[in-house]
Amino acid sequence: MSRMCNGAKMFVDGIIQNATSSIISHPFLKKFANGEIRDSEVIRRWALARYLSSSKFPELVKSAIAVCGEQDSKLTRVLEKNLRDELKPMPHPEMFRNFLLSLGIQREEFEAYLRINKTIIYPANIITIMGTKPETIAAVMLVIEVMIGIECTEVARGLRTVYGESLDLLFFDFHGVQDLSTHLKPFQRIVVDYAVDEVKRREIDLVVSPTIDSKLSFYDQFRVI
Ligand SMILES: [Fe+2]
Repeated sequence: MSRMCNGAKMFVDGIIQNATSSIISHPFLKKFANGEIRDSEVIRRWALARYLSSSKFPELVKSAIAVCGEQDSKLTRVLEKNLRDELKPMPHPEMFRNFLLSLGIQREEFEAYLRINKTIIYPANIITIMGTKPETIAAVMLVIEVMIGIECTEVARGLRTVYGESLDLLFFDFHGVQDLSTHLKPFQRIVVDYAVDEVKRREIDLVVSPTIDSKLSFYDQFRVI
C-alpha cells in the first residue's frame, strides 16, 4: 500500500473512531446502555422519538440517491442496496412497531405520534449537511452507519438489563449487526478512495462533525436523571 493510500485509510479510521467515541460517550446513551435509565416514561418518550427518526430514514437515503445520481454509480448502487435492506428480509418500520408493542405502546399511540410529526423530514439538517458531492454523501452515510450500529447495540444491551427478555429487540439486534458488519464497509471503501485527494479530504472533514452533532442532538433532548 502506498503512503498516500495508507494516509487515506488512517484518515477514514479517524472518522470512524470519532463517530464511535462520540456516540458511545453520550451521557444519556451511556446510562441507557448500562440499564441505569429505569423511568418507563423516559423510555417511552425515547422509543417514540426514535421510531419517528427510524421511519423517516428511507427519505434520507432516497435523497442521497437522487443527489448522487450519475456522479458515482458505485455509491449509488451501495445506497440503493441500503434502501432495499430497509425493507428486506423484514421491513424495519415493522420491526420497530413490534418493539413498541412489546413495550406496551399501543398502535393508535404511535400512529398518532407519526401523524403529528409527519411534516418532519428525516433529519432535515443531515440532508443539508450531506451536500451534493459523492465524497460528502458517502462520508455522511459512513458516520450514520457507525453511529446507528453502535447505538442499536448499546440500546439492546440496556433494554435487556431493564426488561430482561420480555421485549422484542429484533430491530436493535438486527440493525446493530447489519450496520457494523455489512453497511459500514462499502461506504468506508468509497470514502478511502476519495480521501487520497487533499481537497476532498478537507470537504469530507467539513461534513463529519455536523453529522455527528446532528445524531447526538437526538440524545441531547433526553435529560440524564
Ligand atoms: Fe444501515
